[in-house]
Amino acid sequence: MTASARIERILILGGTAEARRLADALAGRPELAVTLSLAGRTAEPLSQPVPVRRGGFGGAEGLAEYLRAERIDLLIDATHPYADAISANAARAAELAGVKLLAIRRPPWRRVDGDNWIEVADAEEAARALGEAPRRVFLALGRNELEPFATCPQHFYLVRSVDPVDAPLAVPHASYITARGPFGEAEDRALLEQHRIEIVVTKNSGGAATYSKIAAARRLGLPVVMLTRPALPSVPSVATVEEAFAWLDHAGTEETARGV
Ligand SMILES: NC(=O)c1ccc[n+]([C@@H]2O[C@H](COP(=O)([O-])OP(=O)(O)OC[C@H]3O[C@@H](n4cnc5c(N)ncnc54)[C@H](OP(=O)(O)O)[C@@H]3O)[C@@H](O)[C@H]2O)c1
Repeated sequence: MTASARIERILILGGTAEARRLADALAGRPELAVTLSLAGRTAEPLSQPVPVRRGGFGGAEGLAEYLRAERIDLLIDATHPYADAISANAARAAELAGVKLLAIRRPPWRRVDGDNWIEVADAEEAARALGEAPRRVFLALGRNELEPFATCPQHFYLVRSVDPVDAPLAVPHASYITARGPFGEAEDRALLEQHRIEIVVTKNSGGAATYSKIAAARRLGLPVVMLTRPALPSVPSVATVEEAFAWLDHAGTEETARGV
């Protein structure tokens, strides 16, 4: 018997391209009832191919309650690698409700020749790593992660975010653009050149959709301040959407998934 014969009701924790692709593919399987959960942070989320619920569950207990009430058979954590709170909640809730859990854990980007990365623990350390002398900085972070940079008002900041930044940085020189990936290397190189950027600050998101800024920085010889990934719970996991399909189709057992 395949896992998909036993698994009928699936909840995907999303907010990523992987979650969307997974939902898209699973929407075509009539034997499955799939719901996608979004945190509700984005003002105009893309339309989704399966029913969507929005907003927090109220911690691990709230999520466990939802899993029980909705008779979910499989919880898929397809959230962003820096969304550590919801991933911890997913692990705990699956345990509490006795529901199978599979995580899609996007592998991090690795340095290649020509990369000049400065690895830091968080945004506060990233702000300090920019140094005392004024620099032109590309901040490729979420709009809720900008505050620490206000303590370093000597720099110029170029901020790119999906939604407009509603509380602009309290600094004299900043410019804001809204855009949703995927981005291309030529496009990001042109952006960095146009704004005479000297240093890039980013998370190590992994995946192809936003790698362009890393490739562009390398090409231009710019340093990249890279925020270290948070620790995530060790649960059955796969690296890609394709591996998740294979997991669903062929086994659904922990033995086939890599622990991380
Ligand atoms: N962090 C990033 O850099 C980043 C980048 C791109 C996309 N995203 C996406 O944006 C969302 C929020 O990210 P975050 O870093 O703020 O998360 P987080 O810090 O891990 O989560 C904070 C709280 O938001 C709620 N939440 C998060 N994701 C949810 C989901 N998919 N469905 C329902 N509730 C959710 C949960 O509230 P309750 O405890 O009340 O359940 C969670 O405790 C995530 O879905 C993530 O995939 C994040």
